[in-house]
Amino acid sequence: MTDHDIRVLDESNVRTAHTLFRGALHSGPAPDDKWELVKDSYDPGRAFGAFQGDEMVGTAQSWAIRLAVPGGAELAGAAVSRVGVRADWTRRGVLSALMRRQFQAYREAGEVVSTLRASEAVIYGRFGYGVASRGRQLKLDRRRVSVSPSAGTGGRIRLVDQDTALTLAPELYTRIGLTRPGMTTRWPTWWEMNLRREMRDENAQTAVHRGADGDDGYAVYSVKSGMSEPHGTSVLSVLDVVAGSPEVWAELWRYLLRVDLVDQVVAELRPLDEPVEWLLADRRVLKVTDVEDETWLRLVDLPAALAGRSYREAEPVVLEVRDRYLPDNEGAYRITPDGAERTSAPADLGLDVDLLAATYLGDVSFTELAHAGRIDVLDGAALPRADALFGTAVRPWAGTYF
Ligand SMILES: CC(C)(COP(=O)(O)OP(=O)(O)OC[C@H]1O[C@@H](n2cnc3c(N)ncnc32)[C@H](O)[C@@H]1OP(=O)(O)O)[C@@H](O)C(=O)NCCC(=O)NCCS
Repeated sequence: MTDHDIRVLDESNVRTAHTLFRGALHSGPAPDDKWELVKDSYDPGRAFGAFQGDEMVGTAQSWAIRLAVPGGAELAGAAVSRVGVRADWTRRGVLSALMRRQFQAYREAGEVVSTLRASEAVIYGRFGYGVASRGRQLKLDRRRVSVSPSAGTGGRIRLVDQDTALTLAPELYTRIGLTRPGMTTRWPTWWEMNLRREMRDENAQTAVHRGADGDDGYAVYSVKSGMSEPHGTSVLSVLDVVAGSPEVWAELWRYLLRVDLVDQVVAELRPLDEPVEWLLADRRVLKVTDVEDETWLRLVDLPAALAGRSYREAEPVVLEVRDRYLPDNEGAYRITPDGAERTSAPADLGLDVDLLAATYLGDVSFTELAHAGRIDVLDGAALPRADALFGTAVRPWAGTYF
């Protein structure tokens, strides 16, 4: 018997949940004007509260998404966010109860995976979440940038105002589609909160590329000017780059690198294999200042998740999967280029579901995990086969922060 219970939130208590979440991150309550911007981003029926009596002591919510997986299929899933437990209630199983309730809700809704961005790396592995994509943090000394020559696209880049951006950017994002494993659809309020950056006291600009057949890419950025301080540094932050082709991608980056009165260009959580340095005459001008985890992925309905992605050509492997939180996922799965299914055959490799999630989009290989002693290797010859089956041509990356 626990001393708290989990309930679905409604309009009457969702602001309390938001205040609780902000408090867990050491921020005060959102003032009325900011709450007006945020409130619609709580999707009905998707926010939970942990209660002792009438008092809320913890909360977690999510948005419905689709996640692109290797092979191009898109799986129904949940993007989990605003997880917080009141400081006087931590380490009493409140988050564990919220997670269990979320998994149950996702299964009832037919959602196969869930994903989140973690405040700390030690929280979510126990619940079966693994790091399935990572991103690079880039810093460029703008004054030293010299972009290598290019034939260009023959297109043109124009700045649009926020209202136009709020129509155009979602439309382009949808039309261009989820081009990498790990990318997700974006929900309407994501756009509001990320293009209207007033909430973060930032002024976002949207530059749209128009090619021969119409608009085919855009970049969102903001500049924090250092001009008001003596020797101040003006920093351009790249917030979003969406392009329908490599040529448009290159043209958008060329634009970002030549905005005037900028000393530094920075970008966070960019794809590990995004070739920005190859646009530069001097590659050393780009510094990779960090590599951070991006997608934390939970394979909620494991048989459906394994069957949902494609596999490359290689001899089959049998994986024995352990899953403490969702034990009906446990068991042996045979993976072949034709798909994945449960089997009674003996296992080649054994691993926890969070580590399987780490391999699922292609971020880490089975060989790397075995090298670190993280998986059971029952047949060493299975490692290169598993790596080949799960391998992907491009690195996984989501590009949507929430
Ligand atoms: C992270 C947080 C939600 C955890 O909530 P909680 O109710 O204390 O978690 P639980 O009691 O269910 O913990 C379950 C297990 O995870 C461990 N754990 C939870 N949070 C942890 C943390 N931050 N660091 C290390 N271990 C943690 C617990 O020790 C417990 O371990 P056990 O099963 O071996 O006993 C809470 O500490 C919090 O609100 N933190 C600040 C806000 C935040 O970081 N939110 C996450 C945003 S992504």
